Amino acid sequence: MLILGIESSCDETAAAVVSNGREVLSNVINTQIALHKKFGGVVPEVASRRHIEVIDAVIDEALAEANITFGDIDAIAVTYGPGLVGALLVGVSAAKALSFALSKPLVPVHHIKGHIMANFVAHKNLEPPFVCLVASGGHSHIVSVNNYTSFEIMGRTRDDAAGEAFDKISRVLGLGYPGGPLIDKLAKEGNPEAVNFPRVRMDKNSLDFSFSGVKTAVINYLHKLEQNGENYDKADIAASFQAAVTDVLCEHTIEAAQIRNSKIIALAGGVAANSVLRKKMTSMANKNGIQVIYPEPVLCTDNAVMIASAGYYEYRAGKRADMTLNAVPSLQL
Ligand code: KG4
Ligand code: ZN
Repeated sequence: MLILGIESSCDETAAAVVSNGREVLSNVINTQIALHKKFGGVVPEVASRRHIEVIDAVIDEALAEANITFGDIDAIAVTYGPGLVGALLVGVSAAKALSFALSKPLVPVHHIKGHIMANFVAHKNLEPPFVCLVASGGHSHIVSVNNYTSFEIMGRTRDDAAGEAFDKISRVLGLGYPGGPLIDKLAKEGNPEAVNFPRVRMDKNSLDFSFSGVKTAVINYLHKLEQNGENYDKADIAASFQAAVTDVLCEHTIEAAQIRNSKIIALAGGVAANSVLRKKMTSMANKNGIQVIYPEPVLCTDNAVMIASAGYYEYRAGKRADMTLNAVPSLQL
């Protein structure tokens, strides 16, 4: 079964063709990073306009790269939430138009489920159940993946997403956007124990996250040094901040896996590309007899392969949308 996936929830216009949910025939991503860089973050209206400009070409390229035509597709899967409403609408409208014109089924996909499904593409023998940490610019969830279409949230952020904190601290340090990869790179030259930033636990029995505290702690720390005219090493701050965030992500996720007696932890979302998170989670989990898996970085950040893969499993479970499908910016898992 060939699924055309379409993704436009934030600042990447993406289309991909995936066979039977797991085999990638094409993966086209038109990133808008350069466009939003000068604003220090994604500007929703600018994002929507760029999606409109490029979506047709991105879809054409995905078909060409897969060496197929529209007639070969079995269904069209599209992200309909969560995300920026104007951005989502572009992908949803394109998918609806194609579905109508080609008389092919339309499958609505939840963006976070898509992130999780990237692991099925990356690991051909992976089967549910397992526990997955989804950490991106908009979300930080610990999810129990019960089967291919049933997901249960075990913990979530009460305020900022992990990626959002990376982006904010990067901006404060004057590194640029998006912050995650820049902090990851600079932190390699710094000492993760230079400053002991807070590791927040909401309450004893909760796996929820809170990243606004560590964000504020870093900002206050820097302000204080600046007021006193003291110098600081940006690499040390980046490494210490990254250590605090990844410690919490690892501890809560491993606890979730232990609660579910899961021998596998999967990582997903843009923050899953973080080198320290991958290493730390692997070594901490291995000590507890748990294996850690993750997709290659290009399948961690936004892409349409993951949407096509999720679309395949949703299609098999009977999920369909009609021409009334709309974007749902705060769609729940
Ligand atoms: O999944 P994604 O592409 O978009 C959302 O759905 O939000 O995630 C983007 C987020 C950004 O906040 C970015 O800074 C973060 O993922 N990110 C990273 C790394 N690469 C991307 N965070 C930490 N370390 C990285 N290497
Ligand atoms: Zn995403």
